[in-house]
Amino acid sequence: MTSAPDLAIEAHGLVKHFKETRAVDGIDLAVPTGTVYGVLGPNGAGKTTAVRMLTTLLRPDAGTAHVLGHDVLAQPDAVRSLVGLTGQYASVDEDLTGAENLIVIARLYGFSKPAARRRGMDLMEAFGIAEAANRPVKTYSGGMRRRIDLAASLVMSPRVLFLDEPTTGLDPRSRNQVWDIVRVLVADGATVLLTTQYLEEADQLADRIAVIDHGKVIAEGTATELKRSVGEGSVNLRLADSSDRARAAEIVERVLRAEVVLAPDPYAFSARVPDDGADLAAQLLPALADAGIGVPEFTLGQPSLDEVFLALTGQPVDEEDQDRSGTTSHTEEVA
Ligand SMILES: Nc1ncnc2c1ncn2[C@@H]1O[C@H](COP(=O)(O)OP(=O)(O)OP(=O)(O)O)[C@@H](O)[C@H]1O
Ligand SMILES: [Mg+2]
Repeated sequence: MTSAPDLAIEAHGLVKHFKETRAVDGIDLAVPTGTVYGVLGPNGAGKTTAVRMLTTLLRPDAGTAHVLGHDVLAQPDAVRSLVGLTGQYASVDEDLTGAENLIVIARLYGFSKPAARRRGMDLMEAFGIAEAANRPVKTYSGGMRRRIDLAASLVMSPRVLFLDEPTTGLDPRSRNQVWDIVRVLVADGATVLLTTQYLEEADQLADRIAVIDHGKVIAEGTATELKRSVGEGSVNLRLADSSDRARAAEIVERVLRAEVVLAPDPYAFSARVPDDGADLAAQLLPALADAGIGVPEFTLGQPSLDEVFLALTGQPVDEEDQDRSGTTSHTEEVA
């Protein structure tokens, strides 16, 4: 096997327009081999369209893309043999059992019957759904569906795996299980590009993140770099006594020279730390103690990726989340 290039995925100036819609409007990506790369963006940002071009399912209007050194336009078969894709919407056959789905895929890839059966069962076991192997997929819960989808894309042990919103709609426990699967894959040497609308997911999993909006990369870097780009973070305080809050807020405003934000919880409030204000933040606890105000909880944190997104786009993620038009999944819960 030839040695892997430094970049598993490389795209320059990718463009895809659908009539008036500039779905992908000139995207550059450089994904180092053996890493998790997060493509973060709200509904309609162009994530799925970009993934479809990178996986040879859609022809770009302009630009170039390479996967492990192979041109997606000139060498689509080579690219297809190296990549796995878990689409945003389930791609398995609902009427077949979980095991049957995996066996069919393995047979399509040329596995013998016994080898296909073995591969299918190994994957179902690895994903903790072996007990459901002989049940039709339409009886699976959403979390099980996501796992059988992932298993289906791993039949061939792809070296580059594209996961399009792998945890959308999952409960926190199932989400954590999918994250663990991704971590194991990368530890085994795979490269993963995942799209997500969840800032926390990118934060948890991705070595680097591209934030996309309206078909363009609006920021790129590690989670830490993205957070730093919007300032020093914030202090969060919880007081022993809620009747101290007005006084405490006044002290914090004076020391930090920044406005406080009162939390719905009457014991809590927060304030942004101004640029180069880390020293000022360190003076807060002594100042509050001098005033006789008990502060059982004090945290100094980086800005959240939510704040990053807001700063970059001028729109909070939640607002965009409500625009779910045309994105209903056909994933079914257990009947
Ligand atoms: N086949 C198509 N024909 C016409 N317009 C399309 C097509 N596919 C995508 N679009 C449009 O392109 C834009 C980007 O869509 P895309 O599906 O890539 O977004 P996304 O980031 O994956 O969003 P989501 O988070 O909702 O999955 C949207 O405005 C969408 O309506
Ligand atoms: Mg999508």
